[in-house]
Formats: sequence, structure tokens, C-alpha cells
Amino acid sequence: EDIYRLGLVGKKPVLSTNPTLWPVAAKAAITPEAWGYLEGGGGTSSTMAANSTAFNRWKIIPRMLTGNNSRSLKTTLFGQEYPSPLIMAPVGVNKIFHPEGEEAVAKACAAVGVPYTISTASSTTIEDIATAGSPETPRFFQLYWPRSQDNDITLSLLSRAWNAGCRVLLVTVDTWSLGWRPADLDHSYIPFYNGTGCQIGLSDPVFQKKYLPNSSTANKSTPSPEELTTASLAWLQSAFSGTSRTWTDLSFLRSNWKGSLVVKGIQSSTDALHALEAGCDGIVISNHGGRQYDGAAGSLSVLPEIADVLHNKQTAAGQKMTLLFDSGIRCGADALKALALGADGVLVGRPVMYGLAAAGREGAEHVLRCLLADLEINLGVMGYSDLGQVGRSDLRE
Ligand code: FNR
Repeated sequence: EDIYRLGLVGKKPVLSTNPTLWPVAAKAAITPEAWGYLEGGGGTSSTMAANSTAFNRWKIIPRMLTGNNSRSLKTTLFGQEYPSPLIMAPVGVNKIFHPEGEEAVAKACAAVGVPYTISTASSTTIEDIATAGSPETPRFFQLYWPRSQDNDITLSLLSRAWNAGCRVLLVTVDTWSLGWRPADLDHSYIPFYNGTGCQIGLSDPVFQKKYLPNSSTANKSTPSPEELTTASLAWLQSAFSGTSRTWTDLSFLRSNWKGSLVVKGIQSSTDALHALEAGCDGIVISNHGGRQYDGAAGSLSVLPEIADVLHNKQTAAGQKMTLLFDSGIRCGADALKALALGADGVLVGRPVMYGLAAAGREGAEHVLRCLLADLEINLGVMGYSDLGQVGRSDLRE
């Protein structure tokens, strides 16, 4: 509505309001390497393609003359009320997209009340990102879970996140190694190696003491490129922890995190049940935006089955898990479809990064505002006043 109103006085938005034009603007604004990292899918990108096809398979059936003349996006997640179901997905290395980096996105989220998820692969520290945001806007922390022999580092990260106001922990289980990403391989480009995506590790006092006792990285403001590479490699070896973790290990996080514990990267109902049994408060149905494995299902296509299985089990167990969803959401209608199929909340990754890449904080905020407005208006013209009224019977396959 703001955009319509400003249009009356001839003020155009900072970026298009058309989601399909955001990647075009982003691509033109950043290096081919950064674009490859942002947009690149795993393998032939068929999982990424399946993510968008899955949305197209479902069609919304609108209702007329419902008498609903108010609209609300209010949502309950983890037993608390949120202004909308939209959540900023954890996205690392933001400074390769724009020098304002994560802090700009945290500010954009705070401006619209969307929870910001701090990624373990951020190019800024947990503390700086938290300061950039607003204490009123909920903050989540995403963990790339260090290997077992580095449990002390994990504990340090968890306590830093808690002290920075994070109350929801997303542990990402689909990225214990980077996937096969041809765009990055062809560019010989891994943004982490110059330290960009390692700030959270490199700034960690326990990590520094354990792995860099004699290094100047901890003490000098500008370490040499060699020192930075050595330190970054040590961190990556710890954080991308290989195949050693199993479901039983989650008890370590469960007993060391007072807030909500969420497993991110679930695509099967069996794994959703593992998360339930491990005492998690939620899951994120996600295939990492198609960046990790190739040839998989669109994330939306696995949502109904997981929602059903979880619903039946948790009713029996008397436990209510929060069901989050991501991978492929590009507009308000996409978010509505995921919510109608059983998600309680939705995460958005690339679209906000397109905004950041194209126009910094303003661009990221613009994208968030557009997604929220598009979702709210779509809900209204579909005939409903709040998200609780929308269900599977409002869609046709
Ligand atoms: C990601 N994602 C991600 N996930 C995570 O748990 N930790 C991370 O550090 C990152 N980093 C990251 C970087 C970039 C450039 C992208 C595009 C994605 C995955 C992210 O949280 C989310 O699952 C997907 O982005 C969702 O898909 P869409 O919205 O991008 O289609």
C-alpha cells in the first residue's frame, strides 16, 4: 500500500516489485563469482528446478463474497506470536554480495519485524549482527555443528548466540560438507578461504585458544593472507564436520540449549520423526535451496506427507512441533501454498540476497516488504482474513 501511495506522488521503488526481476538486478550488480555462489545449484541444478516446479503444480482456489474485510498475517511459532510467518533464512558470506553484508539484512529485517537467522558462515560476528538488528525482533542462530572433538567450540558458539539474544537454534544437518557446485568449481571460488565466511569461527575465543594459540590472527587487526587461510582452513575442518554425527548426538544440543531447537534440512518423514524423538521443537523442511544435492524432489512436494506423519505422531505424543519450510519461495503465493500445505512458517533465502546485492539494506528491506505485502494482499483477494483459515482444501494439484 505504501508503494501505491508513493506512486501517487511519482516516487518509484528502489527495485522492481516484480520478483522475477530481482535476480536480473542482482546479477548485474555483483561479480560472476559471487553470482555463481548465490544462484548456483548442486550438480545440474535439477533440485533447484524441482523446487520451483513443485510450486507450479499447486494452484490456489480463491473464494468470493466471504465478507472478510480485514487481513492479518499473525502467526504462532514455538508457542509465541509473530507478526508474520516470514523468516529470514540463514545465508552466509553476505559481504561478497554487498559491503554492508549481514548487518544490512539484520537492519532490514528489524524494520519489518521479520526474525533474522544468523548463519555460522556469516562474514560478520554474531555480536555485530545482533547489535545491528533490533532487540524487539526475534533473532535465530543457525549452527554448522563442529565435530565432536570440538564440542567446546560448539558450546562457546551457543553461549555467544544466547547472549546475543538468539532464542531459536537451527542446526543444519544437510551441509556436513559442501555439495558438488559446478559454478564455484569452475570459478575456483570458495568464498570462505579468504576468511569471509569464517568470522564467527575466527572470532571465537575457544576456537582461537585451541587452534591458533601462537597465531597473530587473534591479536592483530590485519592478519596476513597466509595466516587467514590457515585459520580459515582450521575452522572449516571443524565446522563442516563430515559424516561423524548421528541422531543420538542431538541430545548434546538438546541439553545445552535452553531455547527452541530446530533441525534444518529435512526431506523425509522418517527424519522428521527422528527429530521428534530427539526432543526437537521444530524442523525446517528444506533442501538448502537445491544447493547441496542434485536429482532430488522439490521441497514443497515432500511437505504434505511430512506434515501428515508429524501431525499424527505428535498428536499421540502430545507434543507440538513447529513446522518450517524453505527452498524455492519467490512470491506471496508461494508462501501461501506452503502454509496451506501444513507449514507454520516459511524461510526465504535468495530473494532477500538479490535485494541486498542490487541495493544494499534498502534493497533487502524492499524485497521483504514486497513479499509481506504480496502475501497479505493475496490472502485478502483469495477471500480470507487470516492464515489460520487457509488449508489444503484451498489448493488443487
Ligand atoms: C544458503 N543457505 C544456508 N543455510 C544454512 O543453514 N546456513 C548457511 O550458511 C547458508 N548459506 C547460504 C548461502 C547462500 C548464498 C544461499 C542461497 C543459501 C540455505 C538457506 O538457508 C535456505 O535453505 C535456502 O536459501 C532456501 O532456498 P531459497 O529461498 O534460496 O530458494
